[in-house]
Amino acid sequence: MPLVVIVGTQWGDEGKGKVIDFLAHNVDWVARYQGGNNAGHTVIVEGRKVVLHLIPSGILHPHNRSLIGNGVVVDPQALIDEIKMLEEAGVADVRDRLSVSETAHLIMPYHKKLDHMMEARRGENQIGTTGRGIGCAYADKVARHGIRMLDLRDKDRFVRKVKSFSPYYQNLFSHYGEDTWSEDAVVEEVWALRGEILPLLVDGVTLLNDELKAGKKVLAEGAQGILLDVDFGTYPFVTSSNPSPGGVCTGLGISPREIEKVVGVVKAYTTRVGAGPFVVELEDEVGEKLRKDGNEFGATTGRARRCGWFDCVALRRSLQIGAITNLALMKLDVLDDFDEIKVCTHYLIDGKKVDILPMGLESVKGIEPIYQSFPGWNGSVREARTFEDLPTAAQEYIRALEDLMGAHMDFVSVGPERSETIFRDGGALFKPA
Ligand code: GDP
Ligand code: IMO
Ligand code: MG
Repeated sequence: MPLVVIVGTQWGDEGKGKVIDFLAHNVDWVARYQGGNNAGHTVIVEGRKVVLHLIPSGILHPHNRSLIGNGVVVDPQALIDEIKMLEEAGVADVRDRLSVSETAHLIMPYHKKLDHMMEARRGENQIGTTGRGIGCAYADKVARHGIRMLDLRDKDRFVRKVKSFSPYYQNLFSHYGEDTWSEDAVVEEVWALRGEILPLLVDGVTLLNDELKAGKKVLAEGAQGILLDVDFGTYPFVTSSNPSPGGVCTGLGISPREIEKVVGVVKAYTTRVGAGPFVVELEDEVGEKLRKDGNEFGATTGRARRCGWFDCVALRRSLQIGAITNLALMKLDVLDDFDEIKVCTHYLIDGKKVDILPMGLESVKGIEPIYQSFPGWNGSVREARTFEDLPTAAQEYIRALEDLMGAHMDFVSVGPERSETIFRDGGALFKPA
């Protein structure tokens, strides 16, 4: 398995951090290909919790090497803070095992300010961004006035670039009623960080392609999820990158032919944080119970996540786009204490049954979810280590999801710990020795 992609199949926070962690033991590299520190990937090992925002989750395995690819937008201060957090937590050789693509774009201080200013102006149409400047940094990248990591090697070029778009930002800031733009402050703040960043920079494309040629194994770690993809998600309530597996090729400089497997990560129910259409959202005591039992509060912003039952209609779209070869079903234990568990099988739109998430969902009015009901199992699944250990009702729930989506759950996660995982069928390939 040379290159395996791990991708979120819902609106993020599916449990990708845990999946990367339990798959990383037998790979050489873990590489992030998109997003930035808007992500929050939680890994729990022997009761110790680490939340990674920017650095690939494989860094917790001492033999693993990590790459932040060209498709990621990097806040240099956030990167340094995260390295220090890991060092203080006793993670060995972080700086020796971490590389950053020299062509990754920087999130500059003004991107973060602008993200907040734009959100404030959107009023009722707020996206509910994480406020990390992600969309503004990607917008500059596409507009061709972004600053890349390699610009930190040459002060003249760096200053020239900042000066060249200074008038543009001055205008933009004053449009939003802010007069805090100062090119000198920007240069001073960011340039001061270069000493810690430069030793990490590499030609990430050559590095990863050479490693793959040499037979090394790579996990591509997706952030967010397919339904937050700027092309395929619930636009404009999306992030500004391509979490879908297509993003791996552009975000790492890898040929699609290198991708052997795509592991889709899916929660046993659905959550979303931030604004945007969410057909299965439950704003009642059941939604509240899912949030409480699942501890559904953002790993990055601490916001309460919106909750609902499993949505097969949304998943069918993600399976189509993601060409998922293996599914990892997460947080099954959160459903331990429900008498009845529902699954959305179809949407009803204008009296018609629809089985796949409509494109342009945000402009489709009057959607009603159609649910199928299943009995709960009212007991803990956390001790289960094989599929057969699960209560019959839990097995039936999983089989029903598989039938409804035409996909197989190769991994079942029954608790947040690395060890609380069932490896099934195709998943056995990945099982630790
Ligand atoms: P990510 O962004 O996809 O990596 O997911 P997050 O870390 O934002 O959110 C997933 C949360 O669920 C984290 O707090 C994990 O520790 C936790 N988690 C992962 N798998 C399981 C599981 O099977 N059961 C329970 N109860 N929690 C889990
Ligand atoms: P992980 O990797 C869940 C959401 C934000 C907002 C929208 C745009 O932990 O799954 P942005 O700051 O990216 O411009 O915000 O995307 N969002 C996430 N939701 N998990 C994430 O990452 C997210 N990253 C961004 O809440 O709705
Ligand atoms: Mg998260």
